[in-house]
Amino acid sequence: MEIKIFETEEALANYAADLFEETILRKPDCVLGLATGASPEPTYAELVRRYTQGRISFAQVTTFNLDEYCGLPRDDKNSYYSFMQAHLFSHIDIPADHIHIENGNAEDYEEEAKAYDAQILASGGIDLQLLGIGTNGHIGFNEPADAFTEHTFRIKLSDSTIAANSRYFTDSKIPEYALTMGVAGIMMAKKIVLIATGSKKAQAIKDTASGPISPRCPASVLRLHRDAVLLLDREAASLL
Ligand code: F6R
Repeated sequence: MEIKIFETEEALANYAADLFEETILRKPDCVLGLATGASPEPTYAELVRRYTQGRISFAQVTTFNLDEYCGLPRDDKNSYYSFMQAHLFSHIDIPADHIHIENGNAEDYEEEAKAYDAQILASGGIDLQLLGIGTNGHIGFNEPADAFTEHTFRIKLSDSTIAANSRYFTDSKIPEYALTMGVAGIMMAKKIVLIATGSKKAQAIKDTASGPISPRCPASVLRLHRDAVLLLDREAASLL
């Protein structure tokens, strides 16, 4: 696993956007795995800029998001569908039917999860997977556990994730469950790039980079991936 440390948020976002640009130019019909949250926001802004400048097109790109809350209407301002529309999809030329996000309102979550994994497989698999990391070391919504998770499934969010993400739910209650790609599913991506910024992520990054490879810190599994890179700012890297 490679580690790169950047002096500014802009330099980090530019580097992450370069990885996306290279992937799209090399393979215009590539499959991208996407994350939500604060960490990827500057990268999405940079990708929108590059699209607007005519450097890249998403016309043939397919995307799969990592996760979605359960029981939140798709158009709720806190759904990950809304996040992706606001930060990326509504600004670029990706066709609506190329976008995939788990249906957090599915009647049968197991069926939804199976169908989601089947779609990823049928697309040829994810070429470039973007990740953030929770303060507890989660990737996607794969919370610390006794065993690594496998494919897409419904998870009960941990107290620390609920506490961390409650900041967005100013006038409603944060859902307790989410659908998430599993760790094994994430590890099937050909290339993985994880973004972490800020001192709140420092311990999780230390555990990821040098703790035991353990489901107690799900991101530590990335050390077993042949092409994974952590993009960090100085604060997130401060305990390395
Ligand atoms: C989001 C996701 C989560 C976040 C993580 C960090 O799709 O899968 O793992 O990446 O919770 O969130 P931020 O970037 O908001 O600190």
